[in-house]
Amino acid sequence: MADLRIPDTMMALRLTGTGMDSVGLQEVEVPHPEPDQVLCRVECAAACASDNKIIDQGAAHSLMHGWNPARWPVTLGHEGCVTAVEVGRNWEDKIQVGRRYAVQPAIPSAPSRHRERYAGEGRGIRKIAIGYTLPGLFAEYVVIDPEVIGCSCLVPVPDEALPHYACALSEPISCVVAAQQHTTHVTKESPDTPRRAHLGLLPGGTTLVLGAGPMGLWHVEIAMSYLPATIIVSEPNDARRETARRFFAQRARDAAIDLVLTTPDMLDAAIADATGGRGVDDCIVALGIKAIQEKSFDYLGMGGVTNLFGGLKADDRMIQVDARRVHYDSISAVGSSGSDPSDIDETLELIAEGKIRPGNYVAAVGGLDAARDLIDAVRAQRMEGKGVIYPNLRRPLAEVEGWSGEQEEELLAEG
Ligand SMILES: NC(=O)c1ccc[n+]([C@@H]2O[C@H](COP(=O)([O-])OP(=O)(O)OC[C@H]3O[C@@H](n4cnc5c(N)ncnc54)[C@H](O)[C@@H]3O)[C@@H](O)[C@H]2O)c1
Repeated sequence: MADLRIPDTMMALRLTGTGMDSVGLQEVEVPHPEPDQVLCRVECAAACASDNKIIDQGAAHSLMHGWNPARWPVTLGHEGCVTAVEVGRNWEDKIQVGRRYAVQPAIPSAPSRHRERYAGEGRGIRKIAIGYTLPGLFAEYVVIDPEVIGCSCLVPVPDEALPHYACALSEPISCVVAAQQHTTHVTKESPDTPRRAHLGLLPGGTTLVLGAGPMGLWHVEIAMSYLPATIIVSEPNDARRETARRFFAQRARDAAIDLVLTTPDMLDAAIADATGGRGVDDCIVALGIKAIQEKSFDYLGMGGVTNLFGGLKADDRMIQVDARRVHYDSISAVGSSGSDPSDIDETLELIAEGKIRPGNYVAAVGGLDAARDLIDAVRAQRMEGKGVIYPNLRRPLAEVEGWSGEQEEELLAEG
C-alpha cells in the first residue's frame, strides 16, 4: 500500500517562459484540493516529443489558448499514472483514496479555473490539456480539476498487478488503438450477400506499416490483434528494423502471421511478392512526411485504406490523390489524433492480457531530477524508445533495455 502522507511542499518541473532555459525543477506548495478537485500522487510520468512543442511555443501553442507561462508558470508532463490521495467531497462517490488511475490528458472541455489567464477570458475553448494549462505530471503531486473527472479522463487501473510505467504508457499506446479503430472496410461475403462495415484492420489481409519508430512498432503490435495474414514493415533505419524483428518475429510466427521487414527502396517488390501484385488492404503511415503520405495510396489494393497517422506541418499539408482510384478501386484514407478514455481503458486491458508489452519500449528510467535531461534527450532524438520518470525518486537518467514490473518494484524499494 502506497504511503499516502502528504507533505506541504513538493518539486515540480515547470516551464516559466519559452525554450529549454525556461524549464527547471522548482519547489512549490502541494495544493489542497477544493471540494470539486482531487489531489493525486504521481507514480510515474513519461516524456513525449510533444513536450518540446509547448516548451518552444509557450503561449503560442494551440493548447495554451494564449496562457503565458512567463506570467503563470505551468508544470509539464501529460503521460502518467497517479494515485488519489485526497478527494474533494463532490467526488467522494466516484474517486477513491488509494486507487490508481491512468491519465487521459486531452480534456474536451472549457477550463473551470483561471479563465482570466486565457485569451478572450477563455471564451470558445473546447479542449484543454494536462501538462499544458492544467497542472502536469512531472511533479510529486498533481491537483485534478473537475472537468478532468467530469470527462472521465482519470481512468481507473483495472488490475493492481499492472506496473506504474505500463499505466503511464497506456496513453501513447491508446492513440494507436484509437487510430486502428478509425479504419473501416466495407466487406461482402459474396456478390449476393449484403455489405457490412468492419471496424479496424482487415483480418486475413495485408497490413503495411511505414516507419518503425516507437509509434510504428506499437502499430505492428496492435495490428497483430486483428490477425492479418501478412504484416509488412518498411523502415530505412537498420537498427529499427532489427528492433521490429526482435520484438515481433516469434510472436508473428506463433500467430501464423507472415512478418516482412523491408526498406523503402525494396518496398514495391515486397508488396508485389506478399500480395501477388494486388496491393495491401491496410497501410499505416507512422511518420509525418508529406511525400510518403501521398505515396501510401499507391500501395493500396482494391478497397484498401491508408491511415494517415502522422500529422503534417501546417504549411505542408496538401497532398494529391488519384481520384480515379478512389472511384474505380474504392480506396480511401482515414486519420485520427489522440485518443479517448475508452481507448486507454481498452489499452490497459490489452496490457493486462499480455497482448501489448509496454516494457519492451522503455529505454531510460530516472527520478524527477532527471525529467529535464529526459526531455532534452527526446528533443535531441537521442532516445530509441520511451523514457519514464518516477517523480517520488531522485536519481539520474539511466539507460535500460526494456523494463518490467519487478525492476520497477526494486527501484521503488531502493528509494
Ligand atoms: N495520430 C496520433 O494520435 C499520433 C500520436 C502520437 C504520434 N503521432 C505521430 O506519429 C508519427 C510517428 O511517431 P514516432 O515517435 O514513431 O516518430 P519517429 O520519427 O521516431 O519514427 C518515424 C520513422 O519513420 C522512418 N522513416 C523515414 N522515412 C521513411 C520512409 N520513406 N519509409 C518508411 N519509414 C521511414 C524513420 O527512420 C523513423 O524510424 C509522428 O509523425 C508523430 O507525430 C501521431
